[in-house]
Amino acid sequence: MRPSILITKRLFPETVAFLAQHADVDYVQTADGLTSAELIARARGKQAIISQFTDSLSGEVIAQLKGLGMIAHVGVGYDNIDVAAASAHGILVSNTPGVLDDTTADFAFALLLAAARRVREADAFVRSGQWKRWSLELMIGHDIHHRTLGILGMGRIGQAVARRAAGFSMRVLYHNRTRVASDIASNIASWVSKEELLAESDFLSIHVPLSESTRHAIGEAELRRMKPTAILINTARGPVVDEAALARALSEHWIAAAGLDVFEREPEVHPARLACSNAVLAPHIGSASVDTRLKMTMMAAENALAALTGKRPPNLLNPAVWESWASRPEGAG
Ligand code: 8YV
Repeated sequence: MRPSILITKRLFPETVAFLAQHADVDYVQTADGLTSAELIARARGKQAIISQFTDSLSGEVIAQLKGLGMIAHVGVGYDNIDVAAASAHGILVSNTPGVLDDTTADFAFALLLAAARRVREADAFVRSGQWKRWSLELMIGHDIHHRTLGILGMGRIGQAVARRAAGFSMRVLYHNRTRVASDIASNIASWVSKEELLAESDFLSIHVPLSESTRHAIGEAELRRMKPTAILINTARGPVVDEAALARALSEHWIAAAGLDVFEREPEVHPARLACSNAVLAPHIGSASVDTRLKMTMMAAENALAALTGKRPPNLLNPAVWESWASRPEGAG
């Protein structure tokens, strides 16, 4: 019998067609997706779901996904999924690591460049007809080259950002719970304490996953440690930064500017942030290139189909569940 898969919200036609070759697909074609109650109802009788960032797969929801075998998530961050609860219910969970590193690092740099050189303000200035004459101090900004870039969280995306910084002759510091042994980290970035990172960075780019230990990792105390000329970049997760503290930091000039792709309560944005001319804002599009988003969805599809055909999904977040599937008398799948 063909397996049944629920796609919780709009996906690329290529990915839907690929899934449909191998499974019966229940496709939610809307961009808004499903409420938790709708998701629970639609997942009934399905062996796998393809989930996205906006699906809240809490322990409560997961407990009601009876008979589900697999959550194949589109995205590297999975703070919307209670993986421990999924494991407890014998549900496999996978994500899409690696494929979006360079694209997200490109976007972190886009925000960094735009915030430092006031691209957003300059564009608005020209369009609104305010440009009457050239002058030396018009839209004067901050240099990027030869400045210090601090990276909080030196995983794959943090390392991709560090690689880009070399092209701008930047000094790169990083803080990570553990020192990173890879060539990238040791050749072009130096480990420092979090305090040093905050005090030394001209640009601070956040690349930690969201967890209880990273929630509000950047709050009032941290922002006050930063240079008044510093620029904060966040393409990771909104709740890593205390937004109320950041709104004050920007309006009271504890720091110079921010480039933000993620927010505490997306898609809501703190009203004070909208009023700040020294913030460049984007709607969570770090990985949003045509190629990368397609690759992410195909990777999720391959993870789901692997599990449903008895093969170990390549990007499992809870491999112990796979071991117990595989050791069941009837085997996996
Ligand atoms: C995705 C992201 O667009 O991968 C992540 O963790 O934040 C984004 O790149 C999003 O998760 C898609 O569901």
